[in-house]
Amino acid sequence: MSPAPQPLIGTLASLAVLRQGRCVHQHALGPQAQRCLTLRSTGPATASTVSLVRGTWCIIAYQACGACLRGPVSSNVRPHVTIIGPSLQRQDECAAVLRSLPRWFGIEDSLLMYVRDSATLPTFAIEQDTRLLGFLSLQEHFPASWEVHCIAIAAEARNKGFGTRLLNHAESWLAARGVRFLQIKTVADSSPSPEYAESRKFYAARGYLPLEVFPTLWHPRNPALQLVKALNAA
Ligand SMILES: CC(C)(COP(=O)(O)OP(=O)(O)OC[C@H]1O[C@@H](n2cnc3c(N)ncnc32)[C@H](O)[C@@H]1OP(=O)(O)O)[C@@H](O)C(=O)NCCC(=O)NCCS
Repeated sequence: MSPAPQPLIGTLASLAVLRQGRCVHQHALGPQAQRCLTLRSTGPATASTVSLVRGTWCIIAYQACGACLRGPVSSNVRPHVTIIGPSLQRQDECAAVLRSLPRWFGIEDSLLMYVRDSATLPTFAIEQDTRLLGFLSLQEHFPASWEVHCIAIAAEARNKGFGTRLLNHAESWLAARGVRFLQIKTVADSSPSPEYAESRKFYAARGYLPLEVFPTLWHPRNPALQLVKALNAA
């Protein structure tokens, strides 16, 4: 026996967004999509009908919303991932990202510095729909030599390609401005930290080469490894 249909509160909330004249990506919809949505908004909402109708509505919304035509039109809603910046004023959300990574950002003063810096340094963020998944702040040392001051992807969003997208985006942005070298400092492998071994592996896979270790720059327990990458001229 199939289970009785249940109302889907989350889905109905999404429908309400659509009914207010905006697609799932929060773009305003044209009159054609508005009309379709209105026609389909009658009738009882059960689990099966709502999810079916939601799929249909979303496809219509995608098709009728010019801004969404880049996205998929033949399947149900997919998360919309975008990179924003380089000016970011989302300090609370940056703090939430860092707080989800206590093994990397467990020192409160440093965490608060990175949060503040996210609003003053050039900072890119990656968001899924409207949720901020991670951010990357850049610091200029010389016009041709910049540094990744902070990069973090929320714990539950790690290892899904978001950090790579964010770093690639920052590298392209810098290269387009004539920047030749991008450096990153992380904890050297003379520290036993398994967390920073993951960070080093991430950078190594993206072409960052070790340049020098500064044993006491941060703290003798956290020897700093300087990595560098030559950026392709744009
Ligand atoms: C380091 C960090 C920014 C990388 O971001 P990320 O989103 O986790 O990284 P990615 O998902 O792009 O890449 C990580 C691995 O996942 C793999 N991956 C990418 N897309 C994937 C997917 N869709 N599914 C599964 N794995 C995937 C990649 O191949 C990559 O492996 P590789 O490094 O061996 O090539 C992030 O993990 C983080 O915030 N770490 C904690 C904080 C930190 O280390 N900050 C830097 C301190 S110096």
